[in-house]
Amino acid sequence: MSGKLVMGNWKMNGRLDSNRKLIKAMLEDAHINRDGVAIAAPHAYLMQLSDLLAASPMAIAAQDMSQFGLAGAYTGEVSAGMLHDIGCRYALIGHSERRQYLSETTAVLNQKLINALEAGITPVLCVGETLQQREAGDHLTVIRDQLDILAQLAPTRVIVAYEPIWAIGTGKVATLDQIREMHTCIKQHCRQTHGGAEAVRVLYGGSVKADNADATLAIDNVDGALVGGASLDVESFGIICQAC
Ligand code: G3P
Repeated sequence: MSGKLVMGNWKMNGRLDSNRKLIKAMLEDAHINRDGVAIAAPHAYLMQLSDLLAASPMAIAAQDMSQFGLAGAYTGEVSAGMLHDIGCRYALIGHSERRQYLSETTAVLNQKLINALEAGITPVLCVGETLQQREAGDHLTVIRDQLDILAQLAPTRVIVAYEPIWAIGTGKVATLDQIREMHTCIKQHCRQTHGGAEAVRVLYGGSVKADNADATLAIDNVDGALVGGASLDVESFGIICQAC
């Protein structure tokens, strides 16, 4: 086994019954039901997945968490401590869809990263450029700016997910050369930021499918995948997990 991490991001999808059927099928697939595979489900279903996966090495992940670290008068918020309490090992922070629709700022994301680490959850910081930024040749600068939030954090305790926004949900996966360039840039920037410390792990996300997983996951500096749509189909997700 390669030690790579495959995380399925269900986004805002699921119901108790369909989750039960999907997780049952995943548990019956040895390529999925193993260490190194995680499912990021909506908050509403994390307790269900924690119960269904109680005897499995698969991990559960949150798709977000509160910027407010402790308990208190924050109606509707779910704290990092609560997510850890129900068994979350990882949490997505700053997914591009949250940056876009919920206007998450760097200050908010920084607090969420700190909250996750203090609660014992491994944060997965999502970074990525828009098509306009790439076409303008600004993609490397954009990613470096997004990574600077990690300057004060230990690189081995954080995972980065590179998700070119123009590849998310579009079926247009980045080319192998584009992925190689961006992952190399992320590792080099983080190493320079942390004085050459051990490299940060970097996942690729954006239209990872059964037919491109082998080639994508074989690229140097690709330490796993963050999978959206294909994670809702057990056959596709199994093939992707098999590529790790
Ligand atoms: O977080 C993963 C997601 O943004 C990628 O979605 O459907 O392109 O695999 P998808």
